[in-house]
Amino acid sequence: MALLNVLTAPDPRLQAKALPVEKVDSSIRKLLDDLLETMYDKNGVGFASPQVGIQKRVLVVDLGERDGIQYKPLLMANPEIQWASPITQVTKEGCLSVPNYYVDIVRSLEIKVTYIDENNQHQVLNPKGLLADCIQHEIDHLNGILFIDHLSHLKRKLILSKLIREKQKR
Ligand code: NI
Repeated sequence: MALLNVLTAPDPRLQAKALPVEKVDSSIRKLLDDLLETMYDKNGVGFASPQVGIQKRVLVVDLGERDGIQYKPLLMANPEIQWASPITQVTKEGCLSVPNYYVDIVRSLEIKVTYIDENNQHQVLNPKGLLADCIQHEIDHLNGILFIDHLSHLKRKLILSKLIREKQKR
């Protein structure tokens, strides 16, 4: 496994639409493992391939232990939201590509998602609550969308201009 370099906004590579994988073979499995290792290293709970500049529809999620529930890591290729509840939830989200900003985002409370797992098996999942929020956030990355794109134009501009200033300092 290897730690990958995390891209931060603004970066055109974070706005690209990623391409589906043909199947989960050993090279995609390695990518999934590297994404997971990089996410754990940065204390993230979700991470998507475009965030390291690899435009494949691949993501990982691991909420760890929360509210007495021990979650398992989820490794997903070609995830597709088949249904999203009209009932929404508000979650304070952050993103490894938008460091140090945490903002309330409105998303569906429950979704139905299909995907291919790390063993190249088709799976269906009906996550609710935080897990549903996190998967929606990561699927957005595959479509070139960041959580700040859900904010008003003004709020997004404010965060992006601060991120640009921080990049210039480095
Ligand atoms: Ni993110």
